Amino acid sequence: MPPRKPAKKTAARSSAGHGAGPAPRKTSQPAANPRTLGQWLEHALERYAAHNAALGQVADNAHDDALLLLLRLLGLPLDSDESVLDRVLTAAEAKRVLAALHRRVEQHVPTAYLIGEAWLGGHRFHVDERVIIPRSYFVELIPHLADLLPPSTPVRHAADICTGSGCLALLLAHQFKKAKVDATDLSPDALDVAAINVREHRLAARVALHRTDVFADVPSPEGGYDLIISNPPYEPSAHVDNQLPEFKAEPRMAHDGGPDGLVIIRKILAQALPRLAPHGVLLIEVGGIQKLINRTFAHLDPEWLDTEDGTNCVCLFRATSIASA
Ligand SMILES: C[S@@+](CC[C@H](N)C(=O)[O-])C[C@H]1O[C@@H](n2cnc3c(N)ncnc32)[C@H](O)[C@@H]1O
Repeated sequence: MPPRKPAKKTAARSSAGHGAGPAPRKTSQPAANPRTLGQWLEHALERYAAHNAALGQVADNAHDDALLLLLRLLGLPLDSDESVLDRVLTAAEAKRVLAALHRRVEQHVPTAYLIGEAWLGGHRFHVDERVIIPRSYFVELIPHLADLLPPSTPVRHAADICTGSGCLALLLAHQFKKAKVDATDLSPDALDVAAINVREHRLAARVALHRTDVFADVPSPEGGYDLIISNPPYEPSAHVDNQLPEFKAEPRMAHDGGPDGLVIIRKILAQALPRLAPHGVLLIEVGGIQKLINRTFAHLDPEWLDTEDGTNCVCLFRATSIASA
């Protein structure tokens, strides 16, 4: 899968709440023997360019990707101020940075896997090679989802289908403090990572993880779900075959939506729509296959939500439209 939403994926933006982050722009020539963090950053940028390091997983530009890598490798906060660039690395730190840069640029290992974390909506999530790196458009939509329901409707039951690291289920639980959230995934590996995140966010009382094909084995709550969201695999298989190495490092089943990209989306529509409350809504992130969705599911009256970068790739289906279909 190509980068989904580059404009939203800078280290600074994905760590929402930190504004522009450190974003130091003292661009100088890379030092032959880098000593300070700023010099290591320049060195990293040269190597990112020389090896065509792919971007779009944690940042849309090499500067933010490399800065995130360096800061977090050294255990420094994302909102460090510019003076951090003058920090001189110890010999042990320099060795660690060199090894990580080798893996990042020559072996094309994604930054998030090297530092073991990703940031979304101001929250930290554990990630490793068992899950796709969180970068969903839902991060900008979740704060506004209540506006899609009738006024004053409490969100009691929500679900996140294809949860991966659990990031969206947890953002839902943070947003809707009284909601119970069901999160599903078919991958036991992904669910193991999601369990780490549920524990770290202390939300085990409200976020339940289910191993199931889409939604099949999850009992519906009484009255149905107010909200169901999903960022499913939606890339046509042939696209997945041609991904850049950084994206191939992510689990294939997180990307591969079958021959036309719709295999999982069809199942979601079949299994989720009937589980909505009468006022409920289902939202699915679909990448670049909007036209195909409009054509294939015209009878379900898809609506498209605005996203900040104008891709508007999150589709909304209402319980009311299925009832009348
Ligand atoms: C694009 S990832 C999204 C992960 C997470 N929601 C996020 O936004 O970072 C899609 C997820 O769907 C899961 N998946 C693939 N096929 C599935 C199926 N048939 N049923 C449930 N989950 C599935 C994958 O394991 C992967 O974790």
